[in-house]
Amino acid sequence: MPDTIIEMKNLTKAYGSKIAVKNMDLSIYRGEIVGLIGKNGAGKSTLLKMVAGLVHPTSGELHFFNRASADGQSFFERMGVLIEQAGLYPHYSAFENLKLLAIAYGLPDANAQIARLLKTVGLESSGSAKVKSFSLGMKQRLGIAAALLGSPDVLLLDEPINGLDPQGIVEIRALIRELNKDGLTILISSHILEELSKIATKYVIIHQGEMVEVISADDLLHKCEERIELRLEAIEAAIPVLERELKITDYKVSDNNTVYVYEKGAQIRQISKTLIEHGIEIDSIHKHQQSLEQYFLARTEQAGERHA
Ligand SMILES: Nc1ncnc2c1ncn2[C@@H]1O[C@H](COP(=O)(O)OP(=O)(O)O)[C@@H](O)[C@H]1O
Ligand SMILES: [Mg+2]
Repeated sequence: MPDTIIEMKNLTKAYGSKIAVKNMDLSIYRGEIVGLIGKNGAGKSTLLKMVAGLVHPTSGELHFFNRASADGQSFFERMGVLIEQAGLYPHYSAFENLKLLAIAYGLPDANAQIARLLKTVGLESSGSAKVKSFSLGMKQRLGIAAALLGSPDVLLLDEPINGLDPQGIVEIRALIRELNKDGLTILISSHILEELSKIATKYVIIHQGEMVEVISADDLLHKCEERIELRLEAIEAAIPVLERELKITDYKVSDNNTVYVYEKGAQIRQISKTLIEHGIEIDSIHKHQQSLEQYFLARTEQAGERHA
């Protein structure tokens, strides 16, 4: 049984008549890196703020560590949060910023932990420089260090990659992977699916406050992998021909009349010729590949049409 860390049931937030998050049902398990993907205004920040205890849900339920959130505030302490801009003081150093936060959190003897955190986020040599001289990437890493104060079990990161240069993106990704290896469960948002493509274990696509899809990283990669899409009526007759005559083993039957062939080196011409030789008629056959971004756009457009 996976260990459920956060469970949302029908979680909803309305700001006046504007429904920012609607009927969200989502479980987050220990050790996952969940990528929350949605365009600007989709409801990502609102969702994260509810999980962080910064915004009160209008309706629905939120359970942490298998307990209802009404039990008290104690689980919010087990959560590290970087939502919107980290509240950093520009005229103080990285170390001093963390020290001030530690005092505010009631952790007066945190010096050793702060030094360790600065090392974790790669700021050990910049610990005494003033934050106003930091690049955006450095500020984000310091923000993550701040979120890690108090050794949380869950880290909530709202668009931590937004606006970073390529080097900064690489660093944040590496940091997130490291933290996850050390056992942290991470919920991270982005408006660009591609940004999280190499780190999340599960993606949650949201559009206009509603969940459009939950998909594992493996399934997503498979969907965006190059494939030959073969449509025909006589699937049952075609499969043995694919396997025995064409030696195709990497394929998937998508529905009653569609087969996806992922096999490397498979040729459209060869497949059609062989099927026809065996008296199997083909409705259509073509190569299909979409980028992660195309996939994301297609999913949100479909969702948009359902709303219209
Ligand atoms: N404090 C607020 N008051 C009123 N509307 C809000 C507030 N915060 C967010 N919204 C609205 O809720 C929707 C979702 O916003 P948000 O959660 O910030 O989305 P995202 O982070 O995905 O860009 C948007 O339409 C936004 O305008
Ligand atoms: Mg946001």
